[in-house]
Amino acid sequence: MKIIHKPNDLRSEIEKLKNTKGLSVGLVPTMGALHDGHLSLIKKCVKENDIAIVSDFVNPTQFGPNEDYAKYPRTLEKDSALCSEAGVDIVFAPAPEDIYDEYYFKHKETTLICPPYDVVNKLCGKSRPGHFDGVCTIVGKLFNITKCNRAYFGKKDAQQLFIIKKMVKDLYFDLEIIGCPIVREEDGLALSSRNTYLTAESRNLALNISQALFKAKELFDKGIKEADTLIDTALSYLEKPGLEAEYVEIVAQENFEKIDTLNKKAVMLIAAKVDSHEAKIRLIDNIEL
Ligand code: PAJ
Repeated sequence: MKIIHKPNDLRSEIEKLKNTKGLSVGLVPTMGALHDGHLSLIKKCVKENDIAIVSDFVNPTQFGPNEDYAKYPRTLEKDSALCSEAGVDIVFAPAPEDIYDEYYFKHKETTLICPPYDVVNKLCGKSRPGHFDGVCTIVGKLFNITKCNRAYFGKKDAQQLFIIKKMVKDLYFDLEIIGCPIVREEDGLALSSRNTYLTAESRNLALNISQALFKAKELFDKGIKEADTLIDTALSYLEKPGLEAEYVEIVAQENFEKIDTLNKKAVMLIAAKVDSHEAKIRLIDNIEL
């Protein structure tokens, strides 16, 4: 397995492999701090492609000024060992200066890919202005650098997956986006790099998020189709000291617009903040209905 830091080095390595041997390239974009959720994407990518690339890059443009960019866990050595074990061919681990130029560092601005306002300014995008512009920009850069045939994203970040699929369609990126199921701990907590911030106590509180979703799914399976009823049930799990629901919403899978009655494929999404030490840890999760 190779660890490559410079975009041009990655490009020439891939060109060499892809063009001379006609091989397929799969990409798993990550911000590192790899866990079993990431690994499920990585293993699928290794299985389905001749060349499997994992990018490991904490992307500054998708973090707001008061978010955890500086303290986001950076564990490249451990991540590389996990990737090597999983059969990955290349880990791409650039520095911010390899991906963004001097202009960005001087002016805090760069060329961005901006999805439509109504698509990004809801759910996670509402409390994280500019977040999805940053995500689309880095993912677009990674697609252009790797010229991958397939790219793998988790359904854990359902809005992100929806937006990236739209970007690929709108901008004619020539590749396939593969959505992968959410990986959970045995007790239901969705795996997340941010779980490392949780204490035992706050982890217990965080469990209410998946439990709220499972309960809503149980009621849905019993025939309850009114979004408000399902949302109120979910909210009742989140009304606990130390837990603060940012949103609980149900949208149609086809367009991510709110629906009142679940007469088409839908998804219930939750974002909540959990008190842990002095900090509030923001977690997201969702379930398809
Ligand atoms: P990151 O949070 O590191 O996640 C990388 C990929 O792993 C995403 O597609 C995410 O949905 C998936 N993932 C995370 N936890 C998961 C879980 N429990 N089950 C299944 N998949 C899971 O998402 C990002 O990074 C960034 O926004 C990125 C796309 C890399 C752009 O910077």
